[in-house]
Amino acid sequence: MTDYEQLREDVMEVAALTNYNRASLIPVLRTVKEKYRGIDGEAMQVIADVLGCHPVEVNAVATFYAFLNPKTEGRFIFRLCRTYSCELAGKEEVARQLARDLGIDFGETSADGAFSLEWANCMGMCDQGPAMLVNDEIYTKLTPDRVAGIVKDYKNRPEAYVTEAPPEPALLGENPVECGA
Ligand code: FES
Repeated sequence: MTDYEQLREDVMEVAALTNYNRASLIPVLRTVKEKYRGIDGEAMQVIADVLGCHPVEVNAVATFYAFLNPKTEGRFIFRLCRTYSCELAGKEEVARQLARDLGIDFGETSADGAFSLEWANCMGMCDQGPAMLVNDEIYTKLTPDRVAGIVKDYKNRPEAYVTEAPPEPALLGENPVECGA
């Protein structure tokens, strides 16, 4: 089976739950995002074909909901706070170390899909800056040395390099949205 065929099968599987109705747009987008870690133009076209939507409508829904962000993301997403207190606490040195150790710039994802590096706004740890999140884990009082150790730890985690199983379609999307309605 080609990658395209697999993608189409994944979309059809979720869409079948609503009889290929447009109401499954969000569950389908979530499934594709989870499994393929992003929603590219080809995926939007496949989704549009299967659900009878225009690709522009699929793109509009995908970009409207933050949790569906179609950009490809790594399995571990490093988000460094760039707000005022963290800025004053030395966020620039930490940012340089992160970019160097991860081998990517802010806004990028590593070629193997393991890591993304992004800026974040205040996460409420202003008295303990610089602060960052790695997925749901928060790290505070960062220094370049400390960051080097944290990155090393994540690089040693096997799950950074393993593709997870797709989520159960039945668990997705309680609030279906009609496209083109
Ligand atoms: S300014 Fe960085 S956590 Fe508040």
